[in-house]
Amino acid sequence: MRLCMIGTGYVGLVSGVCFSDLGNNVICVDKNINKINNLQKGIIPIYEPGLEELVEKNIKNQRLSFSTDLKSSIKKSDIIFICVGTPTKKGSSNADLKFIFDVAKDLAKNINKFKIIVTKSTVPLTTGDDIEKILLKKNSKNKFAVVSNPEFLREGDAIRDFIYPDRIVVGANDTKSNRILKNLYSPLIAKGAKYLSTSRRAAELIKYASNAFLATKITFINEIANLCEKTKINIEDIAIGMGLDERIGSRFLRAGPAYGGSCFPKDTKAITSTADKFKTNLTVIKSVIKSNENRSQLLLKRVYKIFNNKIKNKKISFLGVTFKANTDDMRDSSSLTMIPKLSKMGAYIRYFDPTGYKKEFKEYKNVSYSKSISRCLYKTDLIIIHTEWNDFKSLDFTKLIKNKKTIIFDMRNLYSPQKMLKKNIRYLSVGRG
Ligand code: UGA
Repeated sequence: MRLCMIGTGYVGLVSGVCFSDLGNNVICVDKNINKINNLQKGIIPIYEPGLEELVEKNIKNQRLSFSTDLKSSIKKSDIIFICVGTPTKKGSSNADLKFIFDVAKDLAKNINKFKIIVTKSTVPLTTGDDIEKILLKKNSKNKFAVVSNPEFLREGDAIRDFIYPDRIVVGANDTKSNRILKNLYSPLIAKGAKYLSTSRRAAELIKYASNAFLATKITFINEIANLCEKTKINIEDIAIGMGLDERIGSRFLRAGPAYGGSCFPKDTKAITSTADKFKTNLTVIKSVIKSNENRSQLLLKRVYKIFNNKIKNKKISFLGVTFKANTDDMRDSSSLTMIPKLSKMGAYIRYFDPTGYKKEFKEYKNVSYSKSISRCLYKTDLIIIHTEWNDFKSLDFTKLIKNKKTIIFDMRNLYSPQKMLKKNIRYLSVGRG
């Protein structure tokens, strides 16, 4: 099939490349000329394991191309995926749909034959209806179908999630486009992926409800971890004990810092504001947002306690600053709350991240990037394990720590407190009282 992905961010690029690998002809379109020039040369704008190899392979076999020419790309394609960003609108909780509607207007002008227009970006309930209205201004009803096909890709695991999805959700209000989309996904369905066909609005809501539920699960375990800390219980025992109940499931029950990234914080806000619009109060999700926003403050209080509130001139080393491992994404990472706060209180912060220097900390003069783990940890007062990179999972702290008073605050519970005790290393973690 001939596909066009509009927007070469995470969603568009990963999905486009994977669709081409399944044998389709895919054009990935973006307004950003630099990005397209680089992609044509195989230079990838994001860190995603395995993506570069797939781009190279599919450019070579001529199934994948990159272009800034939206008009001709639309004309050449049968299915068009809208993959542009839906960030939070400044000063509100709503998703900003400007980019989506701009694309819809461009599509309206360039439909030359029947096209299936698919929203892959996370768009609020009824956005498909609004896109349809825009298209109808210039086209008759039988020229297009608007379908919702949300993505469930995790950064860092995006290719695997695409190839082995738990489910493929297609929300189409007509049978023709449902049939065509099912055919597009048939190689994945043949490998066991479940295909769920719903109404367009239901598909839109499935995406938001799923992200909000996962965010709730994490926040729930984080709050239970707070209770464990006060009662000398190990949070891992609780997570395992709960997770063994198949109705609950064991995934997304890892306690840690506040959840972050480009999706959960934005999508939890957007679903509550959509619900408000329909006069429905999503109180559970609202309290999840609040609890998560308080989480960095709560963990910082534990840092203050370590130093008896005397933060000035303390040397603090962060291992990992991205919102999770296997990504270079800093969006809504809890390090963006914690590091500036500690720096303002007079601490000297060094950080190491496998994805390198971060411009986000440029303005803080006592925050510096270390090129290696050992440099980062050299004669430090406190080590904060912030992100669960494999690189940090089996460090020999007896060699790395040069100052016997150094304390480790492991926010991802990567190490055993008992083993640390045996090594005489001062060690704190999350939810392990
Ligand atoms: C999330 C969803 O998992 C994807 O299914 C979805 O497609 C994507 O958003 C999206 O809407 O595009 P992602 O943001 O890449 O994917 O990251 P996750 O792996 O879900 O992690 C989100 C946050 O939750 C991270 O800060 C992570 O550290 C935290 N987390 C996750 C925990 O604290 N504990 C856990 O057990 C799991």
